[in-house]
Amino acid sequence: KDLEKLDFNIFLIGFMGVGKSTVSKALQRMFAMDVVEMDEIIAKRNGMSISEIFELHGEEYFRNEETAFLRESREKKNMIVSCGGGVPMRQVNVDEMKKSGKVVLLTANPETILEHVKHSHDRPLLENNKNVDYIAELMEKRREAYEAAADIVIATDGKSVYDICEEIITKV
Ligand code: S3P
Repeated sequence: KDLEKLDFNIFLIGFMGVGKSTVSKALQRMFAMDVVEMDEIIAKRNGMSISEIFELHGEEYFRNEETAFLRESREKKNMIVSCGGGVPMRQVNVDEMKKSGKVVLLTANPETILEHVKHSHDRPLLENNKNVDYIAELMEKRREAYEAAADIVIATDGKSVYDICEEIITKV
């Protein structure tokens, strides 16, 4: 498949630390697509880190920023959008993604997630909760919304980034 000819976007969703950013960057290298990192753009626009946005403006403000960003992507195509983990929790966000693209859900075990987020410092929801039980609990709360949003589900445990990218390209 020649991704440069895709007339839609690919939205990568999934839990914090599942590897959305890593997979996006690999897709960019392999297929020369535009990659958009939602958290990064929102942080830049606000001139502060995600943690600072949560602290200063609150979570609701951050969620509105996510929705506003997705509305802007409506007119674009051929992008890979690496979404923040909370994006599928709002139905308007899901509707917006479906308008311009396919939604790909990446999944992994809580143990894998913990391994990935252990040393990260800009995830306010995990700041004091970096343990398998909390991750499993939040993951369970989100499972239904994640699955309902997804056009394609890819279980990533035990797979290389390369294999995950191949699987995405084959399935979209
Ligand atoms: C969040 C996930 C984060 C970031 C924010 C909230 C969430 O993105 O948007 O900290 O609610 O799951 P990542 O999934 O890239 O960590």
